[in-house]
Amino acid sequence: PDLFGPNRRNARGWDLTSAQDLDAIAKARAEWETASFTVAPLMAGTAKGGASHTAQNPARPGDRLGTVTQASPEDVQTALAAAHPWGTDAASRARILTQAADLYEDHFGAIFAILAREAGKTQADALGELREAVDFLRYYAGQAESLEHPARGIFTCISPWNFPLAIFTGQIAGALAAGNGVLAKPAEQTPIIAHYATRLLHEAGVPRDVLQLLPGDGATVGAALTSDPRVNGVAFTGSTETAKSIQAAMAEHLAPGAPLIAETGGLNAMIVDSTALPEQAVRDVLASAFQSAGQRCSALRCLYIQQDVAEEFETMLFGAMDELRLGDPWHLATDIGPVIDPQAQSQIAEYIAQARADGRVLHDLTAPTEGHFIAPVTLRVRGIADLTREVFGPVLHIARFKAADLDCVIADVNATGYGLTFGLHTRIDGRVQHVMDRIRAGNMYVNRNQIGAIVGSQPFGGEGLSGTGPKAGGPQYLTRFTKPTAPQAAM
Ligand code: NAD
Ligand code: ALA
Repeated sequence: PDLFGPNRRNARGWDLTSAQDLDAIAKARAEWETASFTVAPLMAGTAKGGASHTAQNPARPGDRLGTVTQASPEDVQTALAAAHPWGTDAASRARILTQAADLYEDHFGAIFAILAREAGKTQADALGELREAVDFLRYYAGQAESLEHPARGIFTCISPWNFPLAIFTGQIAGALAAGNGVLAKPAEQTPIIAHYATRLLHEAGVPRDVLQLLPGDGATVGAALTSDPRVNGVAFTGSTETAKSIQAAMAEHLAPGAPLIAETGGLNAMIVDSTALPEQAVRDVLASAFQSAGQRCSALRCLYIQQDVAEEFETMLFGAMDELRLGDPWHLATDIGPVIDPQAQSQIAEYIAQARADGRVLHDLTAPTEGHFIAPVTLRVRGIADLTREVFGPVLHIARFKAADLDCVIADVNATGYGLTFGLHTRIDGRVQHVMDRIRAGNMYVNRNQIGAIVGSQPFGGEGLSGTGPKAGGPQYLTRFTKPTAPQAAM
């Protein structure tokens, strides 16, 4: 198949409106509904293992998924000592990564079940995530043979819990496709899906000492893997704060020039002007702000509605919000699942409580009492400057603007220093160009939602505080995993 050229196709995925696909998913997931998992480091030598804990379902804390044993400090040292670049040819790397993509698809039942039970992913989110992971594997495999430069050596890949399969896989696939060895540290909250995926990558043919999985805390395992001079580069996705501390550690301990590929947070805005189609804009605002319980870096945080239509638009939006179904993501009908853990729940709840005390709640829903849920809520703000930090949950801030102030809105959005996604709903062509020329955002979406970038079609990544680039799922991504060689002198 054409993995990178003009006839490339994204994974077919599953159709949640097809009875046949739904039946297949239900059957495949069923055997994993109560399955128990045992997770430990997957590495070249035998793992000693460090602290262990029981993993719980964020929607149903009584549902225990199994035991997770972290990598001990000795395990990290053993893995670092054994790590080496993937010394096989590019065609073999491409074949093995493509084989891994096929295995991921074959194992969809287990993957959907783990994503729901460990990460609180609704069926639609789990489906999107599996497709994205498969696309990353095939897309980067398709570039392996045309890379101009050799691998850098050993990459540490550190991933977040909110895309515990897609981003985990994308970083690793990028590093491996370029010929690097990988030390992967998944997020503390989602080691089970990372373990499952790593086993599939090994089964496909990635050697155990070329891809090693080291579950553990950021402050210990993550810090050790980003401050060891044997590491030649780091691919990180997570908060801007963590990226800064990794950057400082790398500057101190790694060779000069070791790349940090950082994909970080956002304070993302959308503008809805008076020419927007309200039904469409309402649908896209709901998806952008509340899908995945707002736990996407790309999620809409601050909506600007043009004053002239604001009253009517807000009424429609709040009516549509009332139709959202919150609940256990295991059920197909659920639109919004839980937030990831009790800490996230209490931090977001505290933020909302303060806004409530300030009289800024416009509209909210009711959350289920069991599990770590936060009900979607909208809050009144004057503008994005009122947002002091990224609140990683289903919290939408709403401001109103006058048409004459459009450029002030753009300036305020740019002044946050972030630059990840931006949405615009308008029917004025000239306005699209006007905003596009001025807004600082990695991905700008027009008359649609602003989440769910598609590998190969919508390369994803931000600027400023939102990331270092190059964009994931784009043609330049792999170049940072390679080492440009010095030009040869002409004779
Ligand atoms: P986080 O920064 O807390 O953790 C991310 C990863 O870094 C985890 O694996 C964690 O263990 C590790 N880590 C923490 N401290 C470390 C340290 N000192 N050294 C090395 N590793 C360390 O982020 P999170 O809460 O898991 O994820 C949510 C954040 O990720 C949000 O800010 C979101 O916007 C961002 N995100 C960005 C993108 C993107 O593509 N731009 C995608 C998804 C998530
Ligand atoms: N790539 C993910 C999205 O676009 C983060 O939502």
